[in-house]
Amino acid sequence: MSSVLRSAVTGVGGYLPADIVTNDELSKVVDTNDAWIVERTGIHARHRAAPDEAASDLAVAAARKALAAAGRTPAEIDLIIVATTTPDLTFPATAAIVQRKLGAPIGIAFDVQAVCSGFVYALSVADGFVARGMSRCALVIGAETMTRLMDWTDRGTCVLFGDGAGAVVLEPVEGKGDATDRGLLGFALRCDGTKQDLLYVDGGPSTTGTVGHLRMHGREVFRHAVVNISEAVRAAAIDAGVELSAIDWFIPHQANQRILAGVAHRLGIEHERVISTVANHANTSAASIPLAWAQAIDDGRIKPGQLLLVEAMGGGLTWGACVIRF
Ligand SMILES: CC(C)(COP(=O)(O)OP(=O)(O)OC[C@H]1O[C@@H](n2cnc3c(N)ncnc32)[C@H](O)[C@@H]1OP(=O)(O)O)[C@@H](O)C(=O)NCCC(=O)NCCS
Repeated sequence: MSSVLRSAVTGVGGYLPADIVTNDELSKVVDTNDAWIVERTGIHARHRAAPDEAASDLAVAAARKALAAAGRTPAEIDLIIVATTTPDLTFPATAAIVQRKLGAPIGIAFDVQAVCSGFVYALSVADGFVARGMSRCALVIGAETMTRLMDWTDRGTCVLFGDGAGAVVLEPVEGKGDATDRGLLGFALRCDGTKQDLLYVDGGPSTTGTVGHLRMHGREVFRHAVVNISEAVRAAAIDAGVELSAIDWFIPHQANQRILAGVAHRLGIEHERVISTVANHANTSAASIPLAWAQAIDDGRIKPGQLLLVEAMGGGLTWGACVIRF
């Protein structure tokens, strides 16, 4: 069989800001309570970036951990893709700021905007460089300061989100072209722009000239999430040539414990195979998958060689899934 180039994940790292905000603390800001938040979302706490901490700072901290795990240095990085909805500035791309702060050499750096699906989208974009031999060492980062987009008078949204960053290093490896290969094996990416009004931010540079606040029809988003994600997961598994029963770990976007459970139930995935960090991270948008991945490596659950399936859904609406042999 002829050999093919695959994008292998050689390091994973996560970073959470020090400040932890509990549900009880939020109940002093809006009319809510710990019992309601835990029952409806599974969230107990979230991290919040310090006033002088930008998305790029979170990204750099996660990237350094991922690079250390891969045994790589910033000098070796030739591609940086940051998935973020909360960039430091309207421009330049947060990826360019990360490149400068890491001291990485001139290379390719840009952002991907697919909201909570951003990390899955960014992986697929990076695969287009790495598996074509155009990048020898790529950083894919999800980095968010979602707390900065909250309307702190809207109890239906402000309790759901947190800040953080996660990063992976991708490097080319030779494979046989089948599902035993190491690396990114299959994708499914989707967007339905007609569902924009269900989840969006009501500001932007070319409309209001402001950053805006996050707006959401939670119940509708919930309904679409379970149906849409399940379809994309099945499609990614087919693209990779694997059965869902062969997946060692599902790493969902961490939006709501009830969505995680609903998708797993629909797909017949036992909860023992699902990585869940939503209780302590809340929804960190594009950062949630690599953050959960890093945590499950650190606690010894995820090991090299295992088959992983990551999936997400977010504003757009966007959604998608990717199968990876780690
Ligand atoms: C947001 C979400 C938790 C709300 O749960 P829900 O069961 O759909 O609740 P509803 O929005 O219908 O609201 C039910 C009641 O709870 C109230 N409520 C909403 N937020 C509340 C809060 N933080 N604390 C207390 N009560 C709250 C509502 O005002 C409403 O009260 P009412 O019946 O008196 O009008 C749920 O819809 C959800 O998780 N959706 C998906 C959100 C998501 O993950 N988005 C990101 C995707 S990337």
